[in-house]
Amino acid sequence: MTHKIGVIGGDGIGPEVLAEALKVVDATGVTYERTDYDLGAHRYLEDGTVLPDEVMAEWRGMDALLLGAVGDPAPGVAAPPGLVERGILLRMRFELDQYINLRPFRLPPRCDFEVIRENTEGSYAGEGGFLRKGTPHEIATQGSVNTRMGVERCIRYAFEKAKGTERQQLHLVHKKNVLTFAGDLWQRTFDIVAEEYPEVTTGYDHVDAACIHFVERPERYDVVVTDNLFGDILTDLGGAIAGGVGYAASANLNPARTGPSMFEPVHGTAPDIAGQQKANPVAAIISAGLMLGFLGEAEAAAKVAAACESPERYDGSTSEIGDAIAAAVRG
Ligand code: IPM
Ligand code: MN
Repeated sequence: MTHKIGVIGGDGIGPEVLAEALKVVDATGVTYERTDYDLGAHRYLEDGTVLPDEVMAEWRGMDALLLGAVGDPAPGVAAPPGLVERGILLRMRFELDQYINLRPFRLPPRCDFEVIRENTEGSYAGEGGFLRKGTPHEIATQGSVNTRMGVERCIRYAFEKAKGTERQQLHLVHKKNVLTFAGDLWQRTFDIVAEEYPEVTTGYDHVDAACIHFVERPERYDVVVTDNLFGDILTDLGGAIAGGVGYAASANLNPARTGPSMFEPVHGTAPDIAGQQKANPVAAIISAGLMLGFLGEAEAAAKVAAACESPERYDGSTSEIGDAIAAAVRG
């Protein structure tokens, strides 16, 4: 079966790290049909295009999307702040219902855990607005949207994940001592779903305490489930403790498969080093491996994951690292 894959290199180092990720996919022997999309801040600055509806419609018919990074393409060249991030990245996550953001952090023996971040709700939902804008009495509100359905499907996915790990542990991370409405819904739903998974050991940490645990005792965690904003912040910290953001991969999953899932490194566009073959492609390569796994190519995915197991052993330029990992995958 040939997988239909949409490729969005984006801005800055995005295209060069994706080139290496696809080099490694090619080395697995998995066949796929590739369609490239020229999108990102550079495209917006060129002709005002963010994400055409026709492209969105095309993506719905694809099996997976691979994204490099989107955001300002060069130092000092600015699109309106967040415009392409919201207009491309967040629109993809929301409209393609990629409700799980899975981010693994593996640097054994220091840490080996994954964060499951709810990816379509919370403070990212866009609820809120201005009142009396521009006056001294201006009010800005920004709500956090938590639906029972959205919270439950995320928590259920996390329990399924934890059931399949060696340690079978799942921690809920929130701030239920202060966010008493959202926190209550998350904890109640967590407890109800937990009854269906007696083999999974559960725990709860406030997000501020979890930050300390991430740094001081990351071995505490196996699988972590949390809301969109806490997950955004925690996974940058996860990257920092697990070797650096250059190794942090992510999968934006639509587990119901009503649309394609999207795979991207957590790092941004790093315009200061773009085009110089200095970027670390490992995060993009691990992300492409996650894509292969989600496409049912278990053997190829395992090869990529194994080749990326001790990423610090790879050294050199962006393409040299890609070559070395591709060679390891070929065996
Ligand atoms: C991430 C990024 C995005 C987010 C930005 C670019 C909108 O930080 O994928 O973690 O906040 O989700
Ligand atoms: Mn982030």
